[in-house]
Amino acid sequence: MATSSTEFKEYDQAQYWVAPARNFRSSARLHLQHFLVQNTLGYLLEPAVEKSVAGFQQLKVADLACGNGVWLTELHSHLAKNNTIAQLDGFDINPVNFPDPAFLPSGMTLKKVDILAGSLPAELKGVYDVVHIRAFDSVIRNAEALKPVLTITMELLKPGGFLQWEEMRGDSWIIDSPSPQTSKEACNIIANVLKGAVRAQGIQKDWVDVLDTHLAASGFQNTRLLVQEKRKQDFKGWTEDYLMVWEEITDLFSPKATSPDAPMTRETWVDLFAKGVKETEQGVVVHQGRIMTAIGQKPL
Ligand SMILES: C[S@@+](CC[C@H](N)C(=O)[O-])C[C@H]1O[C@@H](n2cnc3c(N)ncnc32)[C@H](O)[C@@H]1O
Repeated sequence: MATSSTEFKEYDQAQYWVAPARNFRSSARLHLQHFLVQNTLGYLLEPAVEKSVAGFQQLKVADLACGNGVWLTELHSHLAKNNTIAQLDGFDINPVNFPDPAFLPSGMTLKKVDILAGSLPAELKGVYDVVHIRAFDSVIRNAEALKPVLTITMELLKPGGFLQWEEMRGDSWIIDSPSPQTSKEACNIIANVLKGAVRAQGIQKDWVDVLDTHLAASGFQNTRLLVQEKRKQDFKGWTEDYLMVWEEITDLFSPKATSPDAPMTRETWVDLFAKGVKETEQGVVVHQGRIMTAIGQKPL
């Protein structure tokens, strides 16, 4: 099914993540996503990056757009096992899902920062051994919009410091059925509606597949891209994660009362979503195939 921009409210990436609806449900989804990503990657710090920073007196790590901070809290536990003392700082535009400082490990802070605001506090510049970014593609419309993020990252890093960025193609969904007899029609329609809406709004995610080349173009050295396929046994968990996203975006469709002629009203979406859920209860899975990790180093 094709879709047009008139049936889907303009997706405003600056507003989406600060909306009141990004509440405990969004955070729960991010917790689930964290553990699914970890099952796929098998590391928090990519092994070659971890080896390069092993033995640092006080490792300094920043996580940009850190969400609920789960990557950093897990990194703290991992580093503590190796007796590595680290300063771990998370930054996010929306602090609503930050754990209270009373429940954070020592040496970890979470701060409200809009990393796209243009200027960073001077005390943050040039202090980090590692900057980590994950799942930020929903905020980046196209390759051009990537540049400010890479500029900020470069500013935060010490000379020789590493950027590690994990990303998935947020504009593509793979719908698999366990057998030819099991229908995946509704899930396919949902995936096509969303792909059409992304296209209609001029959002391009092809940069994710070549993120390492963008790092190199922004001045990073020793750039690499690791591509890892999701595990079949995690497809059920990924499906639940994407169903939560599909449910979360219901409000982006106009109700029939205000847009009676829209081919996809909110009511139609709710109906389609319910059919999609039924299909997943019959074994249909929704996933995005693979996770890309781009690594780059700030020149010395
Ligand atoms: C998909 S979530 C990923 C969260 C986390 N990186 C993870 O993998 O669990 C995207 C995050 O980007 C944050 N975000 C969006 N725009 C931002 C901005 N301009 N500055 C800082 N954080 C931002 C959102 O609040 C949200 O927590």
